[in-house]
Amino acid sequence: MKLVFCYMSWLVSFFLLIFRYMENTFEKIVSFAKRRGFIFQSSDIYGGLGGFYDFGPLGVELKRNIKDSWWRAMVQKKDDIVGLDSSIIMNPNIWKASGHTENFTDPLAECTGCHKRFRADHLEDPKKCPECGSKMMESRNFNLMFQTFIGPVEDSASIAYLRPETAQGIFVNYKNILDTQRVKVPFGIAQIGKAFRNEITPGNFIFRTREFEQMEMEYFVKPGTEERFFNEWVNERMRWYVEDLGIKKENLRLRKHEKDELAHYAKDCVDIEYNFPIGWSEIEGIASRGDFDLTQHQKNSGQDLTYYEEATKERYVPYTIEPSCGVERTLLAILCDAYEEIDGGRSTTTEAVKEKEFLLRINKKISPIKVAILPLVKNKEDIVNKAKDVYELLKKNFNCQYDEIGAIGRRYRRQDEIGTPYAITIDFETLEKGDVTLRDRDTMEQKRIKIEDLISTIKKDMYEN
Ligand code: GAP
Repeated sequence: MKLVFCYMSWLVSFFLLIFRYMENTFEKIVSFAKRRGFIFQSSDIYGGLGGFYDFGPLGVELKRNIKDSWWRAMVQKKDDIVGLDSSIIMNPNIWKASGHTENFTDPLAECTGCHKRFRADHLEDPKKCPECGSKMMESRNFNLMFQTFIGPVEDSASIAYLRPETAQGIFVNYKNILDTQRVKVPFGIAQIGKAFRNEITPGNFIFRTREFEQMEMEYFVKPGTEERFFNEWVNERMRWYVEDLGIKKENLRLRKHEKDELAHYAKDCVDIEYNFPIGWSEIEGIASRGDFDLTQHQKNSGQDLTYYEEATKERYVPYTIEPSCGVERTLLAILCDAYEEIDGGRSTTTEAVKEKEFLLRINKKISPIKVAILPLVKNKEDIVNKAKDVYELLKKNFNCQYDEIGAIGRRYRRQDEIGTPYAITIDFETLEKGDVTLRDRDTMEQKRIKIEDLISTIKKDMYEN
């Protein structure tokens, strides 16, 4: 009995330790993201606003690079997919037709004591308040759509919604695309844009927010072929995270939805999950939506949304496969995947040995700053001028940062911390020979390169490795 008790308490301590370590890592990443200007709390000087975040100079670059990579992979490199940018506020009848007015809800539970509100399905004990222990009220369905009013009159006739997904903007433009583009089923429409959800409990930093960006694509297929395309899209989306974003394969997994967790429109759904320090969580959902949306819009708008297939002379409402991911969750996964702390540092200089080093081993193609240009000293005019010339030359091709403040080792580490893959040092030899030192963030290898070969060398390394 004593032995069992000992074993149990050892097991509990072990799991507590792991849990604390995981929480700690997440907190470190959150604090790093704020400290280095990736992400700030929204409305910070006014005490913030729950579930909203701002992206600083490095965060906005990273976000752009993620969106560009997605757009290249999903639109520009695909012959059968076109892009779209629809409005955030649309005719409210769209949300009735799509089922969002009725079904886009989470169960809300309120405490009878402290009156705090929680998602009922996230509570361990649905009858007891996790904050003060009082009894909880019966849960009710809470619609997550943000409401607003169009025009100067605030009555029910002028109610409109901030879109909770970009997808409906695509479905209601399906006919416009068919009528104006030379597309044939199977084809897709892709869109990147803001979405808003009045989440009951936003949290885990930018993982669950009330304003976020989605990257969604609706792929229209002939009924009967949906399973094949669904599987193809699951594979292609997984490929993007690994090959294009450089996320470690072992930190990604697929999770098929059980029948009872499927969204009201979905026939089938697979999530791509990332192994965050807070546990495995969804970054993308790939759903098989059947003909639900087009049929609903056809019924409610009175417009014919069928597709006529020339080759077979058949007319049908296409089925839809939808890969849908969040920019912020992808960005968070990238930060978690790339973040490293090295006790004692990687450098061999005595000054650095004592210090902990931070490294963001982010994929070179998507890192916010690509090249740092560093004059060895800042008090030699010739060296500074030459460094500025190199900076002017390179910034036409890459997002660069010029930095002359502090010792060179310290500047390298500053760049390593924000994930800059290349650092160029301009020194006395540069003035004589016209070459510079090119340092690689990951290997710390330093090579002498002629200034005129810099652009091609960096491009080759960035795109071929
Ligand atoms: N059109 C389908 C759709 O919206 P979803 O699973 O609700 O599906 C898709 O959302 C993706 O959007 C999620 O995988 C996630 O990356 C992102 N997302 C959803 N809600 C979010 C939130 N509150 N905060 C941040 N990202 C969110």
